[in-house]
Amino acid sequence: MPFTIAIDGPAAAGKGTLSKAVAAHYGFAHLDTGLLYRAVGIKVLAGADPVAAAKALVAEDLDSGDLRGSDAAQAASRVAVIPEVRAALVDFQRAFARRDGGAVLDGRDIGTVICPDAEVKLFITASAETRAERRFLELRDRGSDVTREQVLADVKERDDRDMNRADAPLKPADDAITIDTTELDIPAALAKAIDVIDQARS
Ligand code: DC
Repeated sequence: MPFTIAIDGPAAAGKGTLSKAVAAHYGFAHLDTGLLYRAVGIKVLAGADPVAAAKALVAEDLDSGDLRGSDAAQAASRVAVIPEVRAALVDFQRAFARRDGGAVLDGRDIGTVICPDAEVKLFITASAETRAERRFLELRDRGSDVTREQVLADVKERDDRDMNRADAPLKPADDAITIDTTELDIPAALAKAIDVIDQARS
């Protein structure tokens, strides 16, 4: 039986970690939809046309090594404002969402545009400073020499672009439950999410 959990929120709010944990808890499949935009962004950095790259995207493109870096993140946020790019990625995401056995999708517009009928919609957020600090520690652990100030500027720039674009801007769906992780660690945020999902499943 399909059961869709939509998890949206700004960059580095913890939605990736939370989505993986939720999917593992329920034995659902998980799709990090940001990877689709990152994969398109990387191709554009290599000279491809954004719309053609989105239309030609294949599963192997999501395994490319450099998708997690900040160049890919910025490129993703830039291609994500193009309506034709977004349109080219809709069918894949919707088919994934309705697969048998349940699915968790995380992104920016899952509850509002991709899966407006999702059984559960969560909006995961945290202050920009908290998100930037988490992303900074993550990048530093991966050997990057970025500064805190650069990461905060990057987070704010992406927030601004993601929230203010005309097509599918980042915002909570009217019926989404918001979880603010500024003061919550992952186990506490996961407990809240499970509470909401268990209620929807009963
Ligand atoms: O979640 P992420 O940081 O990997 O996403 C990278 C960018 O992709 C993000 O800044 C905006 C875009 N994106 C989007 O527009 N819609 C989604 N569903 C997921 C990501």
